[in-house]
Amino acid sequence: MSDILLLGQTLRFTGDPFAEGTETAEHTRHGAVLLRDGLIAEVGTADSLRAAYPAARIVDHGDALILPGFIDAHAHYPQTAIIASWGLRLIDWLNRYTFPEEMRFGDPAYAAEVAARYFDLTLAAGTTTVASYCTIHPESVDAFFGEAQARGVRALAGKTCMDRNAPEGLRDTAQSAHDDSKALLERWHGQDRLSYMITPRFSPTSTPEQLSALGALWAEHPECLMQTHLSEQTDEIAWAKSLFPEARDYLDTYEQHGLLGPGALFGHAIHLEPREIDRLAEVGAALIHCPTSNTFIGSGLFDMALTARLRVGLATDTGGGSSFSMLRTMAAAYEVAQLRGQALHPSQLLWLATQGSAKALGLEHQIGTLAPGMEADLIVLDLASTPAIAQRAARADDIWEAVFPTIMMGDDRAIAQTYIAGKPVKA
Ligand code: GUN
Ligand code: ZN
Repeated sequence: MSDILLLGQTLRFTGDPFAEGTETAEHTRHGAVLLRDGLIAEVGTADSLRAAYPAARIVDHGDALILPGFIDAHAHYPQTAIIASWGLRLIDWLNRYTFPEEMRFGDPAYAAEVAARYFDLTLAAGTTTVASYCTIHPESVDAFFGEAQARGVRALAGKTCMDRNAPEGLRDTAQSAHDDSKALLERWHGQDRLSYMITPRFSPTSTPEQLSALGALWAEHPECLMQTHLSEQTDEIAWAKSLFPEARDYLDTYEQHGLLGPGALFGHAIHLEPREIDRLAEVGAALIHCPTSNTFIGSGLFDMALTARLRVGLATDTGGGSSFSMLRTMAAAYEVAQLRGQALHPSQLLWLATQGSAKALGLEHQIGTLAPGMEADLIVLDLASTPAIAQRAARADDIWEAVFPTIMMGDDRAIAQTYIAGKPVKA
């Protein structure tokens, strides 16, 4: 297969800017990335790679910034059509908007239609990998993975399990959740670029029997990740504790049923108790920060200081989140941290959306970094995509000042191109 040489500015991380500062970021003004067989073969300067690979087909992206594609570590693709639904907090929002919409995903044609729309939107926004919840219907998982597979996208997902506190028609049972999840896992996990995630929605919508059944399935399949929600809103936490009176805290409702381990991903995790933080750190579980959702549904302000002790990924949480764009999500992460007295550096925001999420998903050896051997899921960021951004970026003295206006004000117009396994997918 022929080599493709992308030219543009490049930015890559050799370490974690939260732990090691901005020096871990390497910016090349006239950079180049060589793509071969769907992988990154080499990263260097334009001059050196042009000289080394004279036969490569050159795609010159000018002044635009070549980055790894964004990784959305927590989303609900079935909520695509109800994003930006007004006026309610978590439990009422679930009952009023989310559950009626999720009810429709037993219809494979509707599930396929929304899955296609979801990937159109997220690829246009520069998201190259997503970890999504589906609905209780196996059809919703088949639709999601089928669409991802057809597009060659790396994706993770699972059947969302609920056997109580959800409407008739949107409940499974402990046994069927186990059996359906197992069948889906066996059908999809490891096919092409797809990974199955064991997915209890959250403790309030599962009986202890269902959580145990899913814990047992996870013990049989430790190669899979487990995703769920934790400590998103204070009334949700009180409800979870009342439903599991013998649990020490919300986290314990999962641990008691075999649902805590290094492969566990907990969305939101805003109002954690000290014991929960200690236990999460001890086990090595990951937290997923969903800032647009946490402000939109009124949940609270995630504590970025947790990055010192835990792996933290970044996510839209659509449709509780109010945007499909990881740029908007980075902006919200910046704003939320400001409200807690912390200014996140642009390098930290970009790292969270790429390598941070990759690490949370245990995929840091495949995606999330511009380095030889990594999969060629890339984006090309136009740093002057609107007049407002262009006039601010024109005043920039360094790459961080040049990229920050796009982080704060950019949207899918800033994504000049998205490459999936080395192939451009934006028209
Ligand atoms: N907690 C349980 N289910 C959900 C969901 O769909 N969205 C959000 N934001 N929180 C949840
Ligand atoms: Zn969620």
